Amino acid sequence: MKVLVIGSGGREHSICWKIGQSSLVDQVFCAPGNGGIAQDAVCVDITATDIASLISYVKKNNISLSVVGPEAPLVDGIVDAFESEGLKVFGPTKAAAALEGSKAFAKNIMKESLIPTAAFGIFNDHKKASQFIKDSQNPVVVKADGLAAGKGVIVASTKEEALCAIDDIMLKKAFGDAGAKVVLEKRLAGEEASFIAITDGSHIIPMASSQDHKRAFDNDEGPNTGGMGAYSPAPVVDSQIHGRVMDEVLYPLIAGLKKKGIIYKGFIYAGIMIDEKKPSVLEFNVRLGDPETQPLLMRLKGDMVPVLMEVANGGSIKTMTLEWHDDPSICVVIASGGYPGNYEKGKPISGLDEAGKIDGVKVFHAGTKKQDGKIVTSGGRVLGVTACGIDIENAIKKAYEATSKISFDGSFYRKDIGKKALER
Ligand SMILES: Nc1ncnc2c1ncn2[C@@H]1O[C@H](COP(=O)(O)OP(=O)(O)O)[C@@H](O)[C@H]1O
Ligand SMILES: [Mg+2]
Repeated sequence: MKVLVIGSGGREHSICWKIGQSSLVDQVFCAPGNGGIAQDAVCVDITATDIASLISYVKKNNISLSVVGPEAPLVDGIVDAFESEGLKVFGPTKAAAALEGSKAFAKNIMKESLIPTAAFGIFNDHKKASQFIKDSQNPVVVKADGLAAGKGVIVASTKEEALCAIDDIMLKKAFGDAGAKVVLEKRLAGEEASFIAITDGSHIIPMASSQDHKRAFDNDEGPNTGGMGAYSPAPVVDSQIHGRVMDEVLYPLIAGLKKKGIIYKGFIYAGIMIDEKKPSVLEFNVRLGDPETQPLLMRLKGDMVPVLMEVANGGSIKTMTLEWHDDPSICVVIASGGYPGNYEKGKPISGLDEAGKIDGVKVFHAGTKKQDGKIVTSGGRVLGVTACGIDIENAIKKAYEATSKISFDGSFYRKDIGKKALER
């Protein structure tokens, strides 16, 4: 059968690569894809949010299954639109995707379903929000309600900083309508991890744990980014935490949504903070993480296409499982100089073939394109050099050996990806 993956980042490259290995799949398409995805799939020049064009492409080309990578088309209702045309698609509906599309919606569901999360208030009035900050004992975390491309959360250290943040979001409209409402919540301490699962709305298949690195520079310094690297498994998610996230977070979540008439189907991602062996939910995402997916899918044994198909068909995954290689995996992101601020594009990249030849290494592309037969940069996060090894130390060594072979003008990457796992 033919499968279409929607999106253009490193996450989508790894999804295409994995799905392409399935014995059920003859051909993988990716819309719009990128310079590296073109090696593992047929790239189709349609953007991820152009739902009408995607539907007509899928119909014309007899594509049996579409898998949606990023959140924006899900929040826009791509799944509802595909399903109303009778097309099979893997992902949550618009109503379910509100879990990521509105942080206020997510916090309310957590409250109703007794899911552990930071104490919070929701405000659409600047004066009231500002009073809440002034009255609070501790500095608060300020979150724009809607999608803000990972920039809408300010972990304030002082009241002044929090007040500045609500001015930017609510008065200056730094994120447009996404900031019409804000969530103000208690700042939690602990270690973060990503817990991702697949659900059909009743049953849940957990994926392996992972952890990403959000800050631009080593030792978690510098500005927040889309993610500078990741590894799997995350040792902080031991079997006890795993059990608690399943029982106290994911099952109550899908039950709480069901009460509202929402059947959640697709990947569900819980960003959790673990403190004194207790998980709290920071946020939900309604898709796989980027760059967590790159090391995750490298560790996935066998085929995930039957699970995706079953969910897209509205069936049950009760008797299905996913198996994981014991070998840990890490992904090092190589970024353009200046990212997450302004950066230049169009830099030729060298060393890709040499890096990819190292045993256990796959270089996933995020911001690249093909120009005059050469791969050049086209985004802030450019590549995700991913490696697995017999232990985390070995995976780190291989990933950095491969990373050191790749260069382009202005490139940079963190040197400490996986260090936390190593220290544990
Ligand atoms: N309540 C909180 N306490 C401490 N840190 C937080 C809290 N909420 C969010 N953060 C930090 O801010 C980051 C981004 O917040 P998150 O809710 O994941 O939003 P988004 O991914 O949409 O930007 C988190 O990964 C975490 O590091
Ligand atoms: Mg997050």
